[in-house]
Order: sequence, then C-alpha cells, then structure tokens
Amino acid sequence: MQSAKVVVDRLIERQKADNGGKYPETVALVLWGTDNIKTYGESLAQVLWMIGVMPVADTFGRVNRVELVSLEELGRPRIDVVVNCSRVFRDLFINQMNLLDRAVKMVAELDEPADQNFVRKHALEQAEALGVDIREAATRIFSNASGSYSSNINLAVENSSWNDEKQLQDMYLSRKSFAFDCDAPGAGMAEKRKVFEMALSTAEATFQNLDSSEISLTDVSHYFDSDPTNLVQNLRKDKKKPNAYIADTTTANAQVRTLSETVRLDARTKLLNPKWYEGMLSTGYEGVREIEKRLTNTVGWSATSGQVDNWVYEEANSTFIQDEEMLNKLMSTNPNSFRKMLQTFLEANGRGYWETSQDNIEKLRQLYSEVEDKIEGIDR
Ligand code: BEZ
Ligand code: MG
Repeated sequence: MQSAKVVVDRLIERQKADNGGKYPETVALVLWGTDNIKTYGESLAQVLWMIGVMPVADTFGRVNRVELVSLEELGRPRIDVVVNCSRVFRDLFINQMNLLDRAVKMVAELDEPADQNFVRKHALEQAEALGVDIREAATRIFSNASGSYSSNINLAVENSSWNDEKQLQDMYLSRKSFAFDCDAPGAGMAEKRKVFEMALSTAEATFQNLDSSEISLTDVSHYFDSDPTNLVQNLRKDKKKPNAYIADTTTANAQVRTLSETVRLDARTKLLNPKWYEGMLSTGYEGVREIEKRLTNTVGWSATSGQVDNWVYEEANSTFIQDEEMLNKLMSTNPNSFRKMLQTFLEANGRGYWETSQDNIEKLRQLYSEVEDKIEGIDR
C-alpha cells in the first residue's frame, strides 16, 4: 500500500497537470499476475487506493477485508476504475478479484456526493441507463471468459491480419468484457459488455505498471495487447483521447511517465541503441528476429494507442535499411525476419503511422522483392 500510494499520487498529479488541474473521474488500468506476485500486490493495491479503501488483515495476516478511508483523510475524490485483469491474474487471484469487486461495490453504495465519489456517480448513471441495480452497475473487475486468454490483438498485429483499428477494438471488447461478480459466488466470469463499454467511456486516463527492467513495453507483444487507449477514445462521447500513463516501479523511486515518453525511452534504449542491436546481431539468426519483433511490437503501440513518434520509425529505417552494410548483414543472417521487417516498415507507412519520403518506400519495396527472390531461390 505504501508503494501503491506513491504511484497513485504521482499518477493523479501528472493527470491533473496534463488536464487543467482536474482529477480523472475514471482510470482504466491493467493488472498482471506476475507483477502482483513479484511486488506482493502493488498494482492491486493501487486500485484500492484510487477508490479510497485500505486492506485489512485477519489474525493470520491474510487480507480478506477492506475498510473505508474517509474522504477527509483521502483529501481528494474517490476515483473510478475499470480493471482489466490478465488471464494469468484471473487464474491465480480469484480471491483478490473478489476483494476488489467487494471494495468497488461498497464504495458505490456510499452516501457521498457525486463530485467526491466518481465510482458512485458513474454507477448511478449506469444503473439508470441499463435498468440494473447499483451493485450490478458497479461492475469494474473484468478479464477474459473462463479458459480464454488475451485480446488476441497481439496475434493480429504479429500476423498483419487486421483491417483497421476498429476491428482490433472489437476484439478487445468481445474478449475482455467478462466480469467477476462477488454477488454470484462460483458463477465464474460473466459477460457484461454494456457495463464494460459504459465504464470505459468515462475513462480519462489509461494506466499500467512496469515493475522490472527485464521486460518493457516493446519486449513482448502482451503489453499493447492489453492497452485500451484508442478504444477508450472511440467509446467516449466527446471522442477525446485519454491520457496514457505507464508507471516505472523498477526502482525505489517510482516514476509515472506518459505512454509516449515510455515508448520513446524504449526505442532509445533498445531498438535504436547500437549496444542493443549490435548485441542482438552478434547472436546471429535469432538476433535478427529479436530486432524484427521489436519493430512489430512498436507498430502494435501505434495501433492501440497512437503514441509512437514518427522519428522512431524514421530512425529505425535509417539504422537498419539506409545503412548498406547493416542491411546486407540482416538479409544474409536471417532473410525471413528481414523480409518481415521490410513488410512491417511498409505496413507502418501504409497504415498511416509513419510518414516518410517516397524514396524510402521505393527502396523498401525493391528490397522486399529482392529478399523474396532470395528466399525462393530465384537467381537475379
Ligand atoms: C501476467 O502475468 O498477467 C501476464 C504474463 C504474460 C503475458 C500477459 C500477462
Ligand atoms: Mg518496484
């Protein structure tokens, strides 16, 4: 809770600074299982602190209850949440989903003014709009259906098998709109898509934690797979893009950065860092695949959040394609991954994520046909 408070307070301060001094009414955030194991529940504690409750341990030290923090002590409104639990979290932490759901419902039922309790404010609106009671409307703990994993946005991006962002967002909604309900013990995850959409439509910020420097945003495809930033924008009545934040809790002095700052940091320290890519190249075949994968994951962030700067693609193109020696090395070491890289650059341009010169595009096309011939064994 102590670590969680620091991060939540910094998140709120940052959001207020970026948003005319206003508190966010709702934060859409992601809970991963491994993170909560490694940090002893730091990110689930963040959820508790946003809504203004504290966990209470029983005489054995087990947390199975929460108690309210008064508005006076909290010193700010209770912030509404939409929690996207990963499949790993769902499978490991059913008791904790129960705790969170009970906490949210308890807060929604408090007799407090709407401008001091955004959980209640939204739950009352949603109860009225959907014709359900307030406890049902105060459904905030979502994940996949039992037995189902991921939004599959990562697979679609990796395979380039998607038409447009709307299709990715529909996948997210159809796969991630299953809710835990503490009032229906043993029922498993039940589809509550309408509440999910309404809750997401009030979000002013999206948020996830990075708890170790081993894995960051573009190392794996699972981070963008769970990011709802563009989806929230689409669901909001005013079509305003939510602010997207990532907490860096890898050190004792936790930082909250915007998603775009974090993507930049990732690009500078890995994809575009000679120490990183030369290290990868020194490993041969698999190293080229790692470079390709990171470029693909970067496109994933463009697709789900639009928070990748043009220069990231431009500099990647200068580094891996403009440099003759480099491109020959990539092509001869792993032609299949190199072909995928070329395809990903062309895709980034075609989907509107990267503006560049016609010369650059022509070169990519020409190299694509060259590497394809090479793979197919056609002599030129
Ligand atoms: C998790 O720990 O929840 C997680 C791990 C890998 C991929 C996605 C989620
Ligand atoms: Mg930490």
